[in-house]
Amino acid sequence: MKTNQQPKAVIVIFGATGDLAKRKLYPSIHRLYKNGQIGEEFAVVGVGRRPWSNEDLRQTVKTSISTAADKQLYDDFTSHFYYHPFDVTNPGSYQELNVLLNQLEDTYQIPNNRMFYLAMAPEFFGTIAKTLKSEGVTATTGWSRLVIEKPFGHDLPSAQALNQEIREAFTEDQIYRIDHYLGKQMVQNIEVIRFANAIFEPLWTNRYISNIQITSSESLGVEDRARYYEKSGALRDMVQNHIMQMVALLAMEPPIKLNTEEIRSEKVKVLRALRPIAKDEVDEYFVRGQYQAGEIDGLPVPAYTDEDNVAPDSNTETFVSGKLLIDNFRWAGVPFYIRTGKRMKEKSTKIVVQFKDIPMNLYYGNENNMNPNLLVIHIQPDEGITLYLNAKKLGGAAHAQPIKLDYCSNCNDELNTPEAYEKLIHDCLLGDATNFAHWDEVALSWSFVDSISETWAANKTLSPNYEAGSMGPKESDDLLAKDGLHWWNI
Ligand code: BG6
Repeated sequence: MKTNQQPKAVIVIFGATGDLAKRKLYPSIHRLYKNGQIGEEFAVVGVGRRPWSNEDLRQTVKTSISTAADKQLYDDFTSHFYYHPFDVTNPGSYQELNVLLNQLEDTYQIPNNRMFYLAMAPEFFGTIAKTLKSEGVTATTGWSRLVIEKPFGHDLPSAQALNQEIREAFTEDQIYRIDHYLGKQMVQNIEVIRFANAIFEPLWTNRYISNIQITSSESLGVEDRARYYEKSGALRDMVQNHIMQMVALLAMEPPIKLNTEEIRSEKVKVLRALRPIAKDEVDEYFVRGQYQAGEIDGLPVPAYTDEDNVAPDSNTETFVSGKLLIDNFRWAGVPFYIRTGKRMKEKSTKIVVQFKDIPMNLYYGNENNMNPNLLVIHIQPDEGITLYLNAKKLGGAAHAQPIKLDYCSNCNDELNTPEAYEKLIHDCLLGDATNFAHWDEVALSWSFVDSISETWAANKTLSPNYEAGSMGPKESDDLLAKDGLHWWNI
């Protein structure tokens, strides 16, 4: 798909007064406009319960765009925004919306293309999708697409029910399920690093790789999202979606073509090959944690159970680590270790690929051990790759020491990497669903994590077990130590 096309559409944002719209969606649409990726033939309709005016919305959009663009550009941009007060359960609201969309399509010469972006409480996803259809809002002569934020259900049965509801109104290829990690530059680069480098792909198997570690740590706590997070926990919030997507990209076979269907079908095969965790094996393969009070960047932070809207005896995990096994020819015997959590030492997402030791060590490294070769893919905040090799110490005897080959794509240049949402909104406008989660991927991920979350829910014994500002509970280190390995905190 060429990226220099300027798609023409009306973007309808449900949840226009909400946090996601302000923090991510408005700034992303603004950057698309500023960079010429959308032209003048677009409009945004913000939909919400509050009785706002167009002016209220435009002011909110201006405030949410932090860059100092000139006033004229701001005004030109925000003049494309319209507010529509809305009652989700009232068909009349949808009919009025349809009238407004028709008018805007005339005004901006938009060929009846509509993107419906659900950036709001998931309990309304089904109702909105169905009523959009029943009131004729989706019956366009151009395209109509549904963009849907997570959480997509809270387990397999609820995800299936939600999927059925939205499928009554939209076909699978009209549904764009957001996993914003798929919009990150370095997550997209996993495929390129693997499939465009002759020095990696031949080694990318259980013959040469010892294990793969994925860490996505956050230093923030639950902020003001405890009501959601208490019901979700780290497993549903991060593992079921973002982490499983990264596992699939790391483990999939080369697709025969770089198109949506082929890539998705390879990812699905990985998820199908994941070894299910039986309920009585959960403790062997997964560790959960909850943060105690601690210190981050020199400042004290409270325990999870002391955060607003968290139950004092909460059983919600704020940390997960686990060992995944993929039962196929390429990966048999190679553990994929994953970990993620709130209030950890730092905000960082990285992937470490640890290669197997060479068969015979002719050199002495530190403590007479050769250091393994590592490939580190830095997803954020740094974006780049580091390759750890062994080289000889100058003047030394037969000593090898690790050296680093570093490439950091966002360290030196002034250009900011496109924000994940910017990329994904643009992809959706162009009809490219590659970096969105297909239903099969969502369903397989839920069926993998459900046995873990059910076991944890039935066993309400989680007590706070890691200090805020650490890298998680000791059991997480033990998980690798059992296999003679350790986390690479590099
Ligand atoms: C979201 C989770 O999907 O991802 C949040 O709901 C989490 O809890 C966030 O903080 C992390 O995203 P990023 O892009 O900051 O790593």
